[in-house]
Amino acid sequence: VTEPDLEGRHVVVSAGGTREPLDPVRFLGNRSSGKQGYALARTAAARGARVTLIAANTGLPDPAGVDVVQVGTAVQLREAVLKAAPEADAIVMAAAVADFRPAEYATGKIKKKDDKDPDPIVLVRNPDILAEISADRARPGQVIVGFAAETDDVLANGRAKLTRKGCDLLVVNEVGERKTFGSEENEAVVLGADGSETPVSHGPKEHLAETVWDLVARRLG
Ligand code: PMT
Repeated sequence: VTEPDLEGRHVVVSAGGTREPLDPVRFLGNRSSGKQGYALARTAAARGARVTLIAANTGLPDPAGVDVVQVGTAVQLREAVLKAAPEADAIVMAAAVADFRPAEYATGKIKKKDDKDPDPIVLVRNPDILAEISADRARPGQVIVGFAAETDDVLANGRAKLTRKGCDLLVVNEVGERKTFGSEENEAVVLGADGSETPVSHGPKEHLAETVWDLVARRLG
């Protein structure tokens, strides 16, 4: 039986992976399917929360009873998060956000040049949304959760990232080409800014989502 412990709360969840366009047919992207973020949105709604789901390129059907905002790029994701933040009791950033985007967008398809080396793709830095919303909280007492996709030294990198980003909780999951991204399952450790470590064993993405909401609900009091 699901307790309605998030009733009266508004939560914002980001899901999916941003795509940074190079030209009308190409983009820089990542392997996020959005499944972990959607599991967070569904479970929060089941626990009574009003949910805003900011979805980047997932192609997944809208979960019932959830407000969905579709975005494409990191800059659009940032705008949607900043717009929703002032009313949010908690923000969970499960989306995989590109750290860089092409410096220039070619309005026509980039052509290959015969017998010549390609021009290098020049990248510029995208805003760090999680660090920004953590440093400048839109509401007092707002709980902010980040995710970290790591391939090695998972816990040490996660702890450093939690400090750098300034969020309250950081879910560290190990990823690989066939691990976590796109699959139905996940396995993680949730690190707290208070030094806590909550391991979540391998299981459905809903299982990890429920643990995240347990920790958020405790912090909201
Ligand atoms: O979508 P699935 O297929 O279900 O896979 C789930 C997942 C692996 C994508 C998810 O569980 C996950 O780990 N998401 C975060 C992936 C990621 O981009 O991690 P990161 O280490 O690059 O970023 C750390 C945190 O900062 C994340 O909360 C990210 O949303 C945020 N960030 C990153 C860069 C940036 N410019 N702005 C951000 O806000």
